[in-house]
Amino acid sequence: MIFLLKLWYFLPAAVANAAPVFARHPFLKKRIGNAPLDFGKTLPYDKKRILGDGKTFLGTFLGLLFGTLAGALQGQPLLGLALSAGALLGDIVKSFFKRRAGLVRGKPVVLIDQLDFVFGAVLLSLPFGFFDWTIPEFLLLCLIVLPLHRLSGMFGYFIRIKREPW
Ligand code: CTP
Ligand code: MG
Repeated sequence: MIFLLKLWYFLPAAVANAAPVFARHPFLKKRIGNAPLDFGKTLPYDKKRILGDGKTFLGTFLGLLFGTLAGALQGQPLLGLALSAGALLGDIVKSFFKRRAGLVRGKPVVLIDQLDFVFGAVLLSLPFGFFDWTIPEFLLLCLIVLPLHRLSGMFGYFIRIKREPW
């Protein structure tokens, strides 16, 4: 498969990663609420939030929904689901470790904040035999994601859906 086609089939991961910010929309927030995945609970051993308020049920659902939809539109609903679940999980695991490191919700960690979803999506889609990516192709994917992530973050901030431009 040529690299461009691989990028194309990776797109649901990016959709799943971007969709959760819409959980912050006042209409959805009011209608559905923004309960956090960790129910506001802290980890007993360090007394810090398990995940923080930035990881919500609604956001996770939106990511799964739109990511899987994107995959379905490409004729690959199962792959879309795997990529989406991986993307969201990667982001959630990242937040878990950010909280352990004492970083409050929204504090940036360069590279990890941008690439968490890539690692998660690649891992969970491995069983689908889809990732016949070479190492240089994977590195190129990461290089492409970095500026795109930055641009979409600035756009989200601009339309007032994101709290921070990163
Ligand atoms: N979001 C969500 N549910 C998720 C992921 C994201 O509701 N599973 C929403 C939250 O409103 C979050 C926003 O998308 O604030 C941006 O996501 P992200 O940058 O991943 O979260 P942060 O707020 O930066 O939190 P963290 O420090 O834990 O990364
Ligand atoms: Mg963030």
